[in-house]
Amino acid sequence: MTEMNPISRFFVNLSARRRSNRRYAWISSGVAIPASSRCLELGCGNAIFAAQFVEKFRPSSYEATDLDPEQLTRARRLLARQFPAGVPAELHLQEANMLQLPFPDSTLDVVLAFVTLHHAGEDHHDFAAVQRALSEVNRVLRPGGRLVYEEFLHRDAIRSWLGSKGFVIERVDRRFRLERVAARKPPVPDTP
Ligand SMILES: C[S@@+](CC[C@H](N)C(=O)[O-])C[C@H]1O[C@@H](n2cnc3c(N)ncnc32)[C@H](O)[C@@H]1O
Repeated sequence: MTEMNPISRFFVNLSARRRSNRRYAWISSGVAIPASSRCLELGCGNAIFAAQFVEKFRPSSYEATDLDPEQLTRARRLLARQFPAGVPAELHLQEANMLQLPFPDSTLDVVLAFVTLHHAGEDHHDFAAVQRALSEVNRVLRPGGRLVYEEFLHRDAIRSWLGSKGFVIERVDRRFRLERVAARKPPVPDTP
């Protein structure tokens, strides 16, 4: 697990609005987000996507989490500017490590992670840490829930890992090295 250095943090936040607009357009163009979903975002950064998503999709709850307290401070400032009349009650900011999520099993409908999963370990090329983060995602998602993510590292390995747990890859879009994926956790099989 790694917090970003101040220079990386500066550049990530600088282009966050543009990336958020692209993500929002992609999700709106056909990723199934059920009404009143309970959502969790890993590594929310300055929370600009969280603000956009909550305004447009009106989830029943949206937990925007990040490991880095400095990012959460920026997120608080951005949300105060974005919602001068008050941050929507369903949007919560919380410090959380994706390797140890403070949420009970099978309680979330959607987990979102944008260029964040590869930050799970000290070494961004270490898939073992990413696998631990994915296990946490799998634990907190309800059966039939969705993982929506963007990655430019471990692309094949992440999809293979999800396939090995029965996830169905519903959508994949690629833009240069960046891959956007929506994957659905298997629903509970019917009991006879
Ligand atoms: C490349 S930034 C992406 C931020 C945001 N998703 C965006 O696209 O603007 C990665 C984010 O993951 C956070 N992060 C790093 N390790 C983490 C961990 N173990 N758990 C949760 N968040 C983490 C960083 O603090 C940073 O905000």
